Amino acid sequence: MKIMILCLCLLSTITLGHGHGPAVVRVEEGSDVILPCSLSSKENIVDKLFDWRKDGQKKKEEVFLYDGGDHYNNGRPGQDEQFKGRVSHFKDQLKNGNASIKINNTKISDSGNYTCDFPHLEPRQTFYIELVVGAALKPYTRTLTATEDGALLQCVVEGASPKPKVEWKDRAGNILPAEEPQVSDRGGSYDVTLLTTVTKTDHYRCVVTQEEIHHQTHSETYVFIYEKLREESSSKELIGWLGGFFSGWVSGVLTLAAVLVLLVATKCIIIRRIKEHRSRERLENAEYKKKNLSLSKLQQREDEESVKLQNGEYRQREAVVSGPMLHILIYFIRNWGRR
Ligand SMILES: *[C@@H]1O[C@H](CO)[C@@H](O)[C@H](O)[C@H]1NC(C)=O
Ligand SMILES: *[C@@H]1O[C@H](CO)[C@@H](O)[C@H](O)[C@H]1NC(C)=O
Ligand SMILES: *[C@@H]1O[C@H](CO)[C@@H](O)[C@H](O)[C@H]1NC(C)=O
Repeated sequence: MKIMILCLCLLSTITLGHGHGPAVVRVEEGSDVILPCSLSSKENIVDKLFDWRKDGQKKKEEVFLYDGGDHYNNGRPGQDEQFKGRVSHFKDQLKNGNASIKINNTKISDSGNYTCDFPHLEPRQTFYIELVVGAALKPYTRTLTATEDGALLQCVVEGASPKPKVEWKDRAGNILPAEEPQVSDRGGSYDVTLLTTVTKTDHYRCVVTQEEIHHQTHSETYVFIYEKLREESSSKELIGWLGGFFSGWVSGVLTLAAVLVLLVATKCIIIRRIKEHRSRERLENAEYKKKNLSLSKLQQREDEESVKLQNGEYRQREAVVSGPMLHILIYFIRNWGRR
């Protein structure tokens, strides 16, 4: 019972001692930060004294002292080395009781507990501010192994502070199942490695989040799974191939020229063949009509797997003559049949 009362007393002393709730300010390494400190009375402090100190390992470090116009930036000695030239106050805010300071180019070592003290005020006022300076370097990604079944991707973040959350995401933003991250703590600075296995061709992102310092960064990697792609598209090979051909055609005049050459060549071949086979053709008219039928069916359903040319001679032509030529070929054969 006695111990409990003692504890309660201690607790209330601590609470009273703080006076104002401790504020936590988080910032990313290298940026500037404002540590807030304002009197609720808003009384003018131009002629007053306030002292900013940081809890050090052994003693309190002098961050910034203002005394009726004298301060560390206009010749007053005593400032801790690590803060020299990096801390400033807001002169025009003093009349509003605002003793906030700005620390430029924050370092990880600036992290810690600060006090903003008005020792001569009645009652004395002390404010507690905790500063968290985070470090977040871009992660780097690697493909460790790649087989036709999938790829093992690795994401590494080094020297992150505070401890980051690391995730693998696909292009659509879905979080991918990953192995348990390997985390090593080097005195508040964290190295994290995260592995995941992917089975589809996609852009993958390793996303690093440090909520405490409102920071998120990512690295992206493109993974191409060859076998999967083949499986998916084997039935659409012809369509894909045609599409590829047409985009190539659009992108280059050279390709266009090649097409024209092919076109002329095809015409010559076909015209010659027409002449050669004209007489035979008449005899085999019925048979050709049958072929026409299957070929026009082919034109309509070229995206289907069942697409096949039955006649060896025509199949050979299909291989030599490119996709668009197939249409021209069909056109010729159709007219040929009609004659
Ligand atoms: C801090 O940086 C600002 C610019 O962001 C500059 O105007 C100011 O003089 C710097 N303060 C100190 C103490 O160097
Ligand atoms: C004190 O001054 C700083 C710098 O101008 C400002 O960011 C902060 O909001 C001010 N605080 C109050 C309570 O007005
Ligand atoms: C700052 O003070 C809080 C308690 O108010 C404590 O939990 C924290 O560890 C301190 N931070 C540092 C860096 O000393």
